[in-house]
Amino acid sequence: MGAVERALGEALAPLPGSPQKLLRELLENRGKMLRPRLLVLCAVLTGGERIKENEVLYRTAAAVEMIHTASLVHDDIIDNASCRRGRPTLHLLRGRKAAILAGDLLLARAFALLSEKGHEAGPLRLMARSVALLCRGELCQAERRHRWDLSERQYYRIIHLKTAQFIASCCEAGGWIAGATAGERRSLRQYGLNLGQAFQLVDDLADYSEAPLQGGKPAGSDLKQGLATLPLIHLLETRPRYRQMLRAASPELPPALLELLRRVVGENGSLDYTLAAARCSKEQALRALQPFPDGAARQALAGAAAAVTGPVPARPDPEAAPPG
Ligand code: FPP
Ligand code: MG
Repeated sequence: MGAVERALGEALAPLPGSPQKLLRELLENRGKMLRPRLLVLCAVLTGGERIKENEVLYRTAAAVEMIHTASLVHDDIIDNASCRRGRPTLHLLRGRKAAILAGDLLLARAFALLSEKGHEAGPLRLMARSVALLCRGELCQAERRHRWDLSERQYYRIIHLKTAQFIASCCEAGGWIAGATAGERRSLRQYGLNLGQAFQLVDDLADYSEAPLQGGKPAGSDLKQGLATLPLIHLLETRPRYRQMLRAASPELPPALLELLRRVVGENGSLDYTLAAARCSKEQALRALQPFPDGAARQALAGAAAAVTGPVPARPDPEAAPPG
């Protein structure tokens, strides 16, 4: 990842002082760099160790991290979030205008990087399509806020658009750079789609946990914002009276109702149901790796999938109180 960090720094170098400083600060508070890591591993898996000498690989990996960061800056504005990765969000620190423009600038720099000389059109096309789908996912989610009749099918469509397809495109882009065959790229995409789905399912599950989330986001945020995710959808499908309660109280859900729902989601088995769905996606991600020869890259990709459904955050004690 050192080479990706260097490429990130170089990508911002052409910018003048103050915007460059702003974006550097923003990128300093990065997370696990999951997307660039997957891209590099998928390239090594299909192109072998020699692909590590290709600078295009690191520039593309830097570009996907920039796109991801831009999407989070905009997502935090849309969600009115106060904290990201344990720090105040950019729009709180610098105001909404600066944050919107910082996201736009990052996105523009990412695409400038992807279209530099020496880069193939494949990853550029993949990322252009993927950003359009990210936006459609966010729009779709926004339109369905406070819709307590969201079906599982609609939920899976949203998480496909806002998370899974982008992770899949990062994996496929790695394959493109390494000269993978169309069949190999399909398998990489399949791996990314399933890993991304598992990742979002676990993120949505964690929103119902008691422990503060790794992202620094307070638990219960989804429900408070009117977002139905799989744990709640399962509860509402199995215990429809909670849907009536939500409809009657929306859009301002009182704290007592939020607390009650968070508790019954655990008691009803809806968290176990969501975790089982995440584990099933993880298994499918592992299956997509089977056509590739065993080795360090395949093991690291398998490890990344396993880590997604690893330790599950603490959740309300089912013995604590009878269902409301
Ligand atoms: C976080 O999901 C948000 C996303 C995965 C996508 C956000 C996409 C946009 C705002 C569209 C614009 C895109 C660009 C590139 C500018 P989440 O809200 O479920 O996760 P969270 O809990 O971390 O907020
Ligand atoms: Mg969000």
